Amino acid sequence: MARVRVRPARADDLAGAAAVWHASEGHPGSAPPSPSATGWLRHVLATGRLVVAETDTGRVIGFAGARPEGALTALTDLFVHPGHQSSGVGGLLLDAVLPTHGPRATFASADRRALGLYLRRGLLARWPAFYLAAGRDAVRLPDRDLQTREVDMVESQFLVQGPADPGFWAEAGAIALEVRDRRRALGHAMLTWHSPEWLHQPELATILESSAVRGHAADVVIAVIRAMLARGAAGVALQVPGAHPALPILLGAGLRIAGVDILCATADCGVADPERTTVHGEPLPPI
Ligand SMILES: CC(C)(COP(=O)(O)OP(=O)(O)OC[C@H]1O[C@@H](n2cnc3c(N)ncnc32)[C@H](O)[C@@H]1OP(=O)(O)O)[C@@H](O)C(=O)NCCC(=O)NCCS
Repeated sequence: MARVRVRPARADDLAGAAAVWHASEGHPGSAPPSPSATGWLRHVLATGRLVVAETDTGRVIGFAGARPEGALTALTDLFVHPGHQSSGVGGLLLDAVLPTHGPRATFASADRRALGLYLRRGLLARWPAFYLAAGRDAVRLPDRDLQTREVDMVESQFLVQGPADPGFWAEAGAIALEVRDRRRALGHAMLTWHSPEWLHQPELATILESSAVRGHAADVVIAVIRAMLARGAAGVALQVPGAHPALPILLGAGLRIAGVDILCATADCGVADPERTTVHGEPLPPI
């Protein structure tokens, strides 16, 4: 390995970290990192721990981030520039942000090296989470005769809005929707109208999180997607656990699998119910 140093990140490292993320995740021709990518990293820097790996010329070639969610440490990011992968940098970064004990969780990419690093550190592979996406014209969803209305973000008590996360998503333009039948609220969803982290389809609206009362998880997701399209969304993206009842319905309705992550969490880490909850790329806090 070339001489590499891992150190705490500073604000002036964020553009370099976003460039590593883009080089690792992007494809030729895809747009350069958006300002909102740096916004997320700035948020991790402010509310958790962000480290970078740099060469002896001072170039940032990797970064890792982790944030507290109550007792849980959530690994939010781990990326190494493609030109420097498989030479030990990822392991160094991971060990700089992830404690050796206590509840720890992350959504691992399907990268075998990432999985190998996490599983060897005691995280267990719990379930797959499918990233689904589609442009509006491809989606054909049944009408469930449910109402949606915008509600207050804070009162909706979303899982990703943990104590260390006040208002981040609201500031990023997210809104909350409540789904009701004629008698009661069936669930909530938090969504944004654009998805800068979807490098190829940033115009898609994203469901960041949804939760539902028992027996209505699919109804809630479907009603929210219908509401998003009715309000003019160019398309939708969301992450759905493998056991969630919306998954086969959405695949039958025109959404396509864009990727698969695996929720990895230590044995002492409770996670939200994957049959009733969807969470987009954020580890689930214990409940
Ligand atoms: C995943 C990633 C961060 C790892 O960083 P890296 O610098 O390439 O990884 P390292 O060289 O430090 O470690 C790779 C480990 O995977 C292990 N590994 C490699 N192939 C493996 C396989 N098929 N099965 C299991 N383990 C494997 C290696 O033995 C090594 O572990 P060791 O150092 O303890 O022996 C980096 O490859 C990357 O950025 N990938 C693309 C983006 C990504 O998927 N990020 C993860 C987001 S969750």
